[in-house]
This record gives sequence, C-alpha cells and structure tokens, in this order.
Amino acid sequence: MDNSISMAVIKRLPKYHRYLKELLDRDVKRISSKELSEIIGFTASQIRQDLNNFGGFGQQGYGYNVEDLYKEIGKILGLTKTYKTVIIGAGNLGQALANYTSFGSYGFELVGIFDKNPKIVGLEINGIEVTDVDLMKKFLENNDVDIAYICTNKTGAQFVADILVQAKVKAIWNFAPVDLKVSEDIRVENVHLIDDLLTLSYFLKEQGE
Ligand code: NAI
Repeated sequence: MDNSISMAVIKRLPKYHRYLKELLDRDVKRISSKELSEIIGFTASQIRQDLNNFGGFGQQGYGYNVEDLYKEIGKILGLTKTYKTVIIGAGNLGQALANYTSFGSYGFELVGIFDKNPKIVGLEINGIEVTDVDLMKKFLENNDVDIAYICTNKTGAQFVADILVQAKVKAIWNFAPVDLKVSEDIRVENVHLIDDLLTLSYFLKEQGE
C-alpha cells in the first residue's frame, strides 16, 4: 500500500466498506459518487478524492461498480486474509467480544481467551475454553497470533502488553483505559466508548436538555 495515504482516509475506508456491502446485499450494481455521498454522508468530491488515492476506480459517466469497489476496498483494508486473534480479560467486555461472532465473518478468527481469575479460567465462551494467562506466552509463541484484544482492568493491561510484545504479536486492540508503552513494531488501536457518550452529552447540553 502507498504509505502516503493519510490516516484520515484509512479511517474512512471501513465506512465505505460497510455501506458498499449494504448496496451489494440490495443487488445495486453501480453507483455515482453523488449517490454514494447521499447515503454515506461524505461529499461527492471527498469520495472521488479518497478513492483516487488508490488509483481511481470510477469511470466518467458510469460511476463505480459496487462489487469491484467493495472488493478493492476490502483488499486495501487487508481483508483478503484471516487474522488470528486472542482476548485477554474474560470479564464483561471480553465475554461480550468473544460472543460477537460477526468479527469472524470479516476474517478475525478468535483462537484463544485468557484470564487470571481461577473462577473464570476453564469457562467455555463461544466454544473456546478460557486459559490461565500464565500459559499465554507459550500459546502465543506456538500460534502466530496477529491481534490481541486487551480487556483486562487498567492495572493488568501493561503487564499483558509486555507479554504480547515479547511474543511478537503484531497488533493490540486496547480497551483498557491506559496508554500502553510498547515497542514501535506493534500497532495499537485504543477504544474509548465513553468519548462518544461525552459527545452526546455535549450536544444535549447545547440543546438545553
Ligand atoms: P471486568 O472486571 O468484568 O473484567 C476484567 C477481567 O480482566 C477480569 O476477568 C479479570 O480477572 C481479568 N484480568 C485482570 N488482570 C488480568 C491479567 N493481568 N491477565 C489476565 N486477565 C486479567 O471488567 P470489564 O467490565 O469487562 O472491563 C474490562 C476493561 O475494559 C476495563 O479496563 C474497563 O475499564 C475497560 N472498558 C473499556 C471500554 C472502552 O470503551 N474502551 C468500555 C468498557 C470497559
């Protein structure tokens, strides 16, 4: 991939991918940037500019072939392969993510779940037995895991991240409210659901609710 593609464009690609899937499911064969703009909410010129980053899929007077564009964006997003994933911390959040099967349909295959609590170790969640976190390093070394979802408490997160770095896991999806210190070769995406709620509360305040 062209490394000069901005993070802002990369962050918009999943939205294109999601809406194109909906169009495909409705059997829509082609779409103009103007029509796409009406459903996605980005301007038509933004869409043309974004997609031009990848070699300009559209044709003047025809628009975009929905299936081709969907496949191309999937390729750009790296969705042509499967990724092995693990969850660490099988509490409320970890269990919810483990039970959310639609990640699997994108190619994110859950291969392990780890926790340190003896009451949780041994439980079966979505067909996978929760393993003691003490055994995680060995598991990671034997299983070539791509992405780890950290769902431990704040205090456990850095400890767990250090093991992931040592075991050469490539990426972390971090839900714990802590800025992890990791080496540069491991990619971290932090999730803060609360940010969206705070944005909502800002708007409600503005409306005088
Ligand atoms: P929870 O307390 O139900 O689960 C945490 C689990 O992590 C427990 O089962 C605990 O035994 C395990 N754990 C703790 N240290 C560990 C370690 N060193 N190794 C392995 N397992 C360990 O908590 P909940 O509600 O599931 O939340 C999990 C984390 O996600 C918390 O840090 C919470 O603040 C965060 N969170 C983040 C959200 C976000 O938007 N980013 C939303 C909700 C929760």
